[in-house]
Amino acid sequence: MASAQGFSTIAIHAGQDPQQWTHASVVPPLVMSTTFKQDAPGQHRGYEYGRSGNPTRNVLETCLAALENGKHGLTFASGLGATTTIVALLQAGDHLVAADDLYGGTNRLFQKCLIKQNIKSTFVDMTSVQNVIDAIQPNTKMIWLESPSNPLLKVIDLKAVIDAVKSRRPDIIVVVDNTFLTCYFQKPLEFGADISMYSLTKYINGHSDVIMGAAITRRDDLEEKLRFLQNAMGVVPSPFDCALVNRSIKTLELRMQRHMENGLAVAKFLESHPNVERVFHPYLPSHPQHELAVKQSTGHSGMVSFYLKGNSKEFLKALKVFTLAESLGGYESLAELPSVMTHASVPEDERAALGITDQLIRLSVGLESEQDLVADIQQALNASQ
Ligand SMILES: Cc1ncc(COP(=O)(O)O)c(C=O)c1O
Repeated sequence: MASAQGFSTIAIHAGQDPQQWTHASVVPPLVMSTTFKQDAPGQHRGYEYGRSGNPTRNVLETCLAALENGKHGLTFASGLGATTTIVALLQAGDHLVAADDLYGGTNRLFQKCLIKQNIKSTFVDMTSVQNVIDAIQPNTKMIWLESPSNPLLKVIDLKAVIDAVKSRRPDIIVVVDNTFLTCYFQKPLEFGADISMYSLTKYINGHSDVIMGAAITRRDDLEEKLRFLQNAMGVVPSPFDCALVNRSIKTLELRMQRHMENGLAVAKFLESHPNVERVFHPYLPSHPQHELAVKQSTGHSGMVSFYLKGNSKEFLKALKVFTLAESLGGYESLAELPSVMTHASVPEDERAALGITDQLIRLSVGLESEQDLVADIQQALNASQ
């Protein structure tokens, strides 16, 4: 039913039916109450306590699941909170295979925290399916990847990797962090992923004013376990934040289209400029996995990375429309130096091996007017020489 409707129709209506409230409010109410009156001990009307369930959160989770053609949506206090809860599906002695070019905080969680529970991770370049297969051990229970990756925007063949893993070991849980593209441009569950994971903090909320994460799945068994962990570990978002994200989703399609237009315009400009060594954007024909990107996604967000020939600190200092800040996916354009900002927590030798040098700049191209963004990049490139 939901899949027959367009993306924005689902974003605007799924889970939002006014008939579910006695007052029939068109915009779902923000329910801040932490507890709910019971008709008799143990007899409640669907909600008992705010950590185990909240009507505003439920509206958002239903909408997120519908947008992805998923069955279940769960939200968490942050993207890393979603990751922490998902990896809590693992047990001591289990093994995880992760993409080598992950968000730095995910890498840190796997290398510094999971290891204490005797859960070891192997990091591989997943642009080669064979690397993934070779890394699987008898105790491997989870595969974790991001595509496009962060910050180098490598594109991993989701279908090829998932098919190769599942045909050998159907028990391995495949998780795709879909933060960079959102379900508007890419739907990992349709390629056979078990869980599509998000930092909602980024494009899905899109206004840089909420920290939140999500996990979407079609599997009832995983939903049951994750729902238990969501409550048991307590990593839940606030109802207020849920209301903000639920509102933001209504414009996700429009925002993603504009991010794509602006991001591609900036990437093309950078590629034409003599002070730029190399540009990474999956929708540029020069991108090594351009054809794959076009095949498995319907577009790209505002994420662009590039190697600058000049002085990167001077470039960042000169920017006027772009703001020097971590994070991504908001309406405002941001620029950052991954080696000392978002990816500082990745060990130095690994950063060097990945190509995360002090010349690598990552842009989150926002929704401002295209000509102002290009002009800002142009004057900063001149200042960096
Ligand atoms: C791709 C990706 N995944 C996960 C996270 C973690 O999300 P959060 O900051 O909401 O905890 C981030 C944060 O930057 C991210 O970029």
